[in-house]
Amino acid sequence: DLGGHDTYMHKEISEQADAVDRALRGRIDDRFSTVHLGGLNLDAREARTIRRVKILGCGTSYHAGQIGAQMIEELARIPSDAEPASEFRYRDPVVDPDTLYVAVSQSGETYDVLAAVQELKRKGARVLGLVNVVGSAIARETDGGIYVHAGPEVCVVSTKCFTNMVVSFALLALHLGRIRDLSVADGKRIIEGLRKLPGQIDEILKGEEEIKKLSAAYADAKSMMFIGRVRGYPVAREASLKLKEVSYIHAEAYPASELKHGPLALIEPAMPTVAIVPDDDLLEKNRAALEEIKARSGRILAVAHQDQEKADDTIIVPKNEPELDPILMGIPLQLLAYHTALALGRDIDKPRNLAKSVTVE
Ligand code: F6R
Repeated sequence: DLGGHDTYMHKEISEQADAVDRALRGRIDDRFSTVHLGGLNLDAREARTIRRVKILGCGTSYHAGQIGAQMIEELARIPSDAEPASEFRYRDPVVDPDTLYVAVSQSGETYDVLAAVQELKRKGARVLGLVNVVGSAIARETDGGIYVHAGPEVCVVSTKCFTNMVVSFALLALHLGRIRDLSVADGKRIIEGLRKLPGQIDEILKGEEEIKKLSAAYADAKSMMFIGRVRGYPVAREASLKLKEVSYIHAEAYPASELKHGPLALIEPAMPTVAIVPDDDLLEKNRAALEEIKARSGRILAVAHQDQEKADDTIIVPKNEPELDPILMGIPLQLLAYHTALALGRDIDKPRNLAKSVTVE
């Protein structure tokens, strides 16, 4: 049921405020400035012994995991990283008993993720799932976990589930943080930020007409560059994946700081750049990258909290807590990918060569 939308992708992008609301519902504990995650199956004593977090997923879910790893490292101060599940499986990794493994998947059926979970379990590791489809194979095989509650996602290209995965990682980070050394004040700050998300998402979605106009200006690009720094980098990677999947425009994502180590050679008027520029302590550094691009006559579309002088176009998103900004900054770029694909007449809900769940190796 498309509920008045032309495509599932559009419907699912539009549903994100409700989806995030569902992910938060019944989980916030104001008394202790933390969250309750019923199915986690990880008691406080165990949570304190974790020395590393390793997040495994594929595609969009891997990108959600990259943001999640940063959130866990920032809020819970546990060294964390994300890796594509297939790479992890094939490199014969050291499985460490003090590492918490988290498998992320919308479908809960992605073969590479499932096989990584089974291999980890066989070696006695503790594995949690961060999954959308209830009762799916990965949900069943993990020791416990978090359902992301995005609701059914029909479009092959993941949008609302990505957002809910990142929100769910914020909940996990807050939960682990408050068991460890995150202060009550910081716990409160993050909870307030989480509560603001649904309203802010709706605010971003109200800007759709503007984004649609912008996409007309970028739809004739043969290739696009996406850049971000630290929190913004996985956002850039996900936005680049979204654009190429649904519009078939070639796109690359780089950390802004890596531009001068090679990719700057690609910058010219026919190669536009989308830059993630939050108002955080890296703002000045990001502005310097925009200047470098402008000096090579590259067109720039910034996603930012305030107008960026060096950018040709800026999409302004509302500000939240810096740790939660990545949740919001990707949303306008889902719309950019959508409208670019629409302008090019693509098969939006079923892009060529792709399947919704990849159950083969
Ligand atoms: C991108 C996309 C894919 C999936 C990937 C993992 O829009 O949908 O990259 O994210 O195939 O799928 P799940 O999350 O079901 O494990």
